[in-house]
Amino acid sequence: MMQQGVRNVVRRFSRLAAAAETAAAAAPRMPASDHVPLPYDGPSAAEIARKRAEFLSPSLFHFYSKPLNIVEGKMQYLYDEQGRRYLDAFAGIATVCCGHSHPEILDAITAQARRLQHSTVLYLNHAIADFAEALASKLPGDLKARAALAHYGCCIVFFTNSGTEANELAILMARLYTGSHDIISLRNSYHGNAAGTMGATAQKNWKFNVVQSGVHHAVNPDPYRGAFGADADKYVRDVQEIVEFGTTGHVAGFISEAIQGVGGIVELSPGYLPLAYETVRKAGGLCIADEVQAGFARVGSHFWGFETHGVVPDIVTMAKGIGNGIPLGAVVTTPEIARVLTRRCYFNTFGGNPLCTAGGLAVLRVLHKERLQENAFVVGSYLKDRLRGLQEKHDIIGDVRGTGFMLGVELVTDRQLKTPARDEICRAMEHMKDMGVLVGKGGFYGNVFRITPPLCFTKEDADFFVEVMDIALSKL
Ligand SMILES: Cc1ncc(COP(=O)(O)O)c(C=O)c1O
Repeated sequence: MMQQGVRNVVRRFSRLAAAAETAAAAAPRMPASDHVPLPYDGPSAAEIARKRAEFLSPSLFHFYSKPLNIVEGKMQYLYDEQGRRYLDAFAGIATVCCGHSHPEILDAITAQARRLQHSTVLYLNHAIADFAEALASKLPGDLKARAALAHYGCCIVFFTNSGTEANELAILMARLYTGSHDIISLRNSYHGNAAGTMGATAQKNWKFNVVQSGVHHAVNPDPYRGAFGADADKYVRDVQEIVEFGTTGHVAGFISEAIQGVGGIVELSPGYLPLAYETVRKAGGLCIADEVQAGFARVGSHFWGFETHGVVPDIVTMAKGIGNGIPLGAVVTTPEIARVLTRRCYFNTFGGNPLCTAGGLAVLRVLHKERLQENAFVVGSYLKDRLRGLQEKHDIIGDVRGTGFMLGVELVTDRQLKTPARDEICRAMEHMKDMGVLVGKGGFYGNVFRITPPLCFTKEDADFFVEVMDIALSKL
């Protein structure tokens, strides 16, 4: 009985592998790679899926009708259990910025692990101090200048383990510093899923029915779907009205992404952020830039996403790309604001541990050495142009947007009505996966391709990606 079951599974897998090979044979050729994946003798996808169903949270979900078992990565490529290579255009949700298993980052982490993996920040260690110094130097001159104006040296860095923790801390500091409670965030945003950040997150899919007090969600300045098109003034008037009609007239702060990631790569209307910052500051609030996805060179033209809007925040939060896959987050602010945490003890056991901060320092080095920001700009702009070309060919593409390697392609079944093409995007993703391309998806309606590859993605990768997307959309 058992053997018959195993034979069936093997037969099913052989059929799947054959189908994948047929699809791959018909697909354009992926750029060459000289990496040879290690032999994999671990459990199969089916076995892992069984264990996952039995032992892991029922809230976990996965992409693809048959979830992929990804067992290895090398730069912009991933490998499944059969050694099949995929072009990774999602980078573990905009996280692996320098490439999978980047040798210099691996060396830094393993060297640190061999010497000291963890002690506590109650003792001194150079790794956290070195990385804090290097990170602070990446913040724009104005934030540093503001710190200097207040007769402090540079800006101050707090380390956390995730983006959620970073945003929780930023919101806490804004509330303590201003003595106000109200936070304004943007509809369609994602800032995390703990008590405070779930309040700031503004999409019902990510919110549970628990107390989330003191956050007001402003109308999203979304040029494609927003109520006022790209009219920044009208959107800012809504922020002003929140201050006047929803608060005491004083707010703790305003938090926003420079480009909404989970929300479907939504660029804020040009001119919105400077006006919103001005409005919030007049109401006594601090401006928090959530750079969890857009930071660390991903937008190409600048190192930070907020720089593309010409604003200087009071607090900057970061995670994902900062560690190239290591659990690491950070909050950077002025010393004056940072001092509020001396009123009580603020502590985070793993925040800033030697392993993660040694890795973070290596990430900064690699970004610089390999000119990955420049690559994100050049190849990202090229890719966006090619995607715009696809839009002319396929009516289903309603919008192409984003900058650098933070690009979105929104699928709609009717361009006029902007009807979200939810099923179509799932089918297109399956076709793309069968041809060897992994891409993300998001947006409130789940109908936006999120293209956020490792920053080492090449022009040839971009061509391959577009050819595969073209075929996938033609098959719908
Ligand atoms: C913009 C933004 N902020 C915060 C978070 C939360 O980060 P984490 O999942 O590391 O807690 C995310 C996660 O996707 C994000 O995209």
